[in-house]
Amino acid sequence: MSSPHALELPKIFEEAQDFLPLNGTDHVELYCGNAKQSALYYQQAWGFQPVAYRGLETGSKDRVSYVLRQDKITLVLTSPLEEGGPINDHINRHGDGVKVVALWVDDAAHSWKETTSRGAKSYLEPTRSEDATGSVVCSGIHTYGDTVHLFVERSAYQGVFLPGYVRWDPEFRPKPVGLRYIDHMVGNVGWNEMDVWTEFYSKVMGFTQLVSFDDKDISTEYTALMSKVMTNGNGRIKFPINEPAEGRKKSQIEEYIEFYKGAGVQHIALATDNIIETVIELKKRGVDFLNIPDSYYDTVLDRVGAIDEDLAPLKELGILIDRDEEGYLLQLFTKPVVDRPTMFFEIIQRKGAQSFGKGNFKALFEAIEREQESRGTL
Ligand code: FE2
Repeated sequence: MSSPHALELPKIFEEAQDFLPLNGTDHVELYCGNAKQSALYYQQAWGFQPVAYRGLETGSKDRVSYVLRQDKITLVLTSPLEEGGPINDHINRHGDGVKVVALWVDDAAHSWKETTSRGAKSYLEPTRSEDATGSVVCSGIHTYGDTVHLFVERSAYQGVFLPGYVRWDPEFRPKPVGLRYIDHMVGNVGWNEMDVWTEFYSKVMGFTQLVSFDDKDISTEYTALMSKVMTNGNGRIKFPINEPAEGRKKSQIEEYIEFYKGAGVQHIALATDNIIETVIELKKRGVDFLNIPDSYYDTVLDRVGAIDEDLAPLKELGILIDRDEEGYLLQLFTKPVVDRPTMFFEIIQRKGAQSFGKGNFKALFEAIEREQESRGTL
């Protein structure tokens, strides 16, 4: 690999400004056409546990939301209860997809002030809400596409999720599958927009660039993309940003942009401590993963060296392996989990490696292209 594209070691502690300290991801909210049924999917197939609910019964007249959690991952599924309005508009334009990437902060007013003063467009001015168990302050800014970041300050709150929600405690509780936290969340943006949005994360949110790939790293016969990974000061938040690059046929990024009608969250990477057990369970429950050709496994150990796991179950399950200077990682990708070929999930287990599976991109994209071919969108 030529040096301009080699892994750049993070200088996060030297470079990062701490005007926006982030404790982690607070939650991810999807706008979807039928939150009740989506909630059952995330329980049954993914092992998320019911946490909280708001809807007509709680006085929420215009929207219904289900909150589900698995270890540190909190999903909110929201559907509109009336015609018109921003949630319907979002679904009409994008299909089901991520609206809010909420970040957990100690001071939501400060976070809003620091980011808007650096050029972020306000989505929500700092707003306090409260119930009998305490108070929460939320604020928000716009990011790529129609996606927004909420800053959630909840240190003075003891309730189940946020004011307005009640405990959701159904008897039906399929077991968790071992998902632990959000490792990273990837945004797809349009042609020539990658640098606009990496600059946004660096200037407006004080993130630094961890690593970049270009079309020489990430290309197959047909498809190409460019990617830069942005991370916050303590490294807990990682946002890779992809943009399409010129290829012989339509890239998966272009396909996403075309069906999502613009920029948006492409995939959410969920970490597990035992990818083999997690993936066996997910498959048993109906989650569809990209198929990796058997030939991948003929040479993978020549590339990555010795690993702790037996190769046989990895091959059986289609789990990919990559290595960097610090260790290795295991990962695999679902097919899109919504009707349009847009959002999907990654399952990742890190064994030292801090990178994102660059060595797998080619095998992975070839698998995605086979799927695109079947959709007639290659
Ligand atoms: Fe990823």
